[in-house]
Amino acid sequence: MHFFSTLMVSFGSMFSAVWIVVANSWQQTPAGFHVVGEGINARAEITDFWAMVLNPSSVDRVLHVISGCWLAGAFLIISISAYYIIKNRHIRFAKSSIKIALFVALIASLFQLFTGHSSAVGVSKNQPAKLAAMEAVFDDQTNAQLYLFGWVNEEKQEVNFSIAIPGMLSYLIGFDTETKVTGLNSFKEEDRPPVNIVFQAYHLMVAIGMLLIVLSMFGVFFWIRGTLFKQKWLMWAFVFSVLLPQIANQVGWITAEVGRQPWIVYGLLRTSEGLSKAVSADQVWFSLILFTLIYIGLFILFVYLLNEKIKHGPEDVDAIPSEIGHPKS
Ligand code: HEM
Repeated sequence: MHFFSTLMVSFGSMFSAVWIVVANSWQQTPAGFHVVGEGINARAEITDFWAMVLNPSSVDRVLHVISGCWLAGAFLIISISAYYIIKNRHIRFAKSSIKIALFVALIASLFQLFTGHSSAVGVSKNQPAKLAAMEAVFDDQTNAQLYLFGWVNEEKQEVNFSIAIPGMLSYLIGFDTETKVTGLNSFKEEDRPPVNIVFQAYHLMVAIGMLLIVLSMFGVFFWIRGTLFKQKWLMWAFVFSVLLPQIANQVGWITAEVGRQPWIVYGLLRTSEGLSKAVSADQVWFSLILFTLIYIGLFILFVYLLNEKIKHGPEDVDAIPSEIGHPKS
C-alpha cells in the first residue's frame, strides 16, 4: 500500500512537471495557435492541440528536465547512503541503496548530456539570440569557439579570464566547424538577452553535468573493482554531491528563462508588455510574496522532516522477525 501510494505520488508529480515544462516550452517556441483580437484584448487561441503540445522545444526539454529529476533523486540516495557508510550505520541497507542509485546516476547523467546537447542544437535554430548569449558570441562567425569558462564584459563585448576550444561550438551545433553561429550584434539591441548571467548559468550547469558524469563513473568503476566502500574521499564527495543536481536545475532554468528575455512569448510578446486586465500589479506582488513565504515554510519543513528521517534511518532489516518468528538471516 505504502509502495503503491508512493508510486502514485511520483507519477502525479511527474505528470504535473511535464505539463509545466510543455507550457513553458510553448512560451519559448510557440506553435499551434493564432492571435485573436488586438492590443490589450489580443489573446492566443489554440488551432492545433498536438502542434502546441509538441512544439519545437518541448520533447527535448521534457526529457532534459525529467532526467534532471532522476539525477536529483539518485544523488540524494547516494549522499545519504555514503553518509551512513562513513558513520558505519545501516550498512547493509546503505550498500545496496548506493549501488542502485549509482546505476541510475550513471545512466541519467549520460542521458542528461545527450538531451542537453539536443536542446542546445534546438536553441541554435529556434532561439539564436539565446545561444549567442549562452556562449557570448557577439559577431556572426564560423569556426566559433566553445568557452570552458570566462567572465563576459558586455560593454566591451569580450570574454575575460577565459579558456575556449576553437571551432567546438560550430562543430557541436552543426557537426561541422564551418557551421555559422549568429552573433548578438545581428539582433536589435532591445531584442538581446542579458549576456553574462546567461553565460555563467549555462556554464555552471554544463560543468556540474560533467562532474556528475565523472562522479558516477568513479562510483561504478570502484564498485566493479569491489573497492567502492574503501574510497573514503569518494564517500565524502558523495555526501556533498546532493547539492549539485539541485544547483544545476536552478541554473538550468535561469539559462532558459533569462535567455528568453526580453520576451515573455519568444518573438511575439515582450515581458514589458505582458499585463493582465483582470489582475493588478498589487495583486501580483501580493501573491508573489505569499507564495515565496509558503515555499520558504515548506522548504524548512521539508529539510526538518528529511533530517529526522535520515537520523532515524530505515527499519533495521536484520531485526525484522520473519513470518515464522525468527530473525531474517
Ligand atoms: C551535461 C551537460 C548539459 C548540457 C549540454 C545542458 C544543456 C542545456 C540547454 C541547452 C538548456 C537550455 C534549453 C532551452 O532553453 O531550450 C538547458 C536547460 C536546462 N537544464 Fe541543462 N544541460 C546540461 C546539464 C544539466 C544538468 C546536470 C541539469 C540538472 C541536473 C540540467 C537541468 C536543466 C534545466 C532544469 C533546464 C531548464 C529547463 C528548460 O527550460 O528546458 N542540465 N540545459
